[in-house]
Amino acid sequence: MRVALLGSGRGSNAEAVLLAQQDGRLGAARVIGIWSDLPGAGILGLGPRFGVPAAFLDPGPFRTKFSPERERAWADALRTAGADLIVLAGFMRVLKAPFLGAFPRRIINLHPSLLPAFPGLDGIGQTWRSGAAEGGCTVHWVTAEVDGGAHLGQARVARRPDDTQETFAARIHEAEHRLLPAVIADLARGASR
Ligand code: GAR
Repeated sequence: MRVALLGSGRGSNAEAVLLAQQDGRLGAARVIGIWSDLPGAGILGLGPRFGVPAAFLDPGPFRTKFSPERERAWADALRTAGADLIVLAGFMRVLKAPFLGAFPRRIINLHPSLLPAFPGLDGIGQTWRSGAAEGGCTVHWVTAEVDGGAHLGQARVARRPDDTQETFAARIHEAEHRLLPAVIADLARGASR
């Protein structure tokens, strides 16, 4: 299963996936490349470190979506690379028809809340401010509804009395780093059956 990692940020979850691959915990899944919509994103630095191609690809002029023409260019690039599974690991852009149609049921997203609670931006901040007794993270199939596709895995993180938003967020990130590689390995097992 050929995995494409897409991200806009520091790439700690992409790093967790690459470390899992290095340790043989990713099963039949293999990362074939890293793509970012931001030229300076930390995630691109993982390419040279792990010996994986990493590239910035122009998303067009908008901040949270692609222009239709650039969305087609992204889908073409990933198809040409032969991606079987597209993993949104901190990719902060909404995908629409041209992209979704090119990869039906082959795109997954990591979100830092217990969906369906707190979709959209800043899942951890939303959870923290709500006063909920627990937060967590979810990996789900990507559909046209933002953060709305069927769940593939979830990890719960209890809020402690002495937590600050930072300590709570740090445990959610640790949970993400375990969950995302585990879900990819599960999907790879399913794909090879
Ligand atoms: C992660 O917490 C991920 O859940 C979140 O961005 C962070 C990326 O961190 N994604 C979203 O909020 C998507 N809506 P990373 O760049 O260190 O992996």
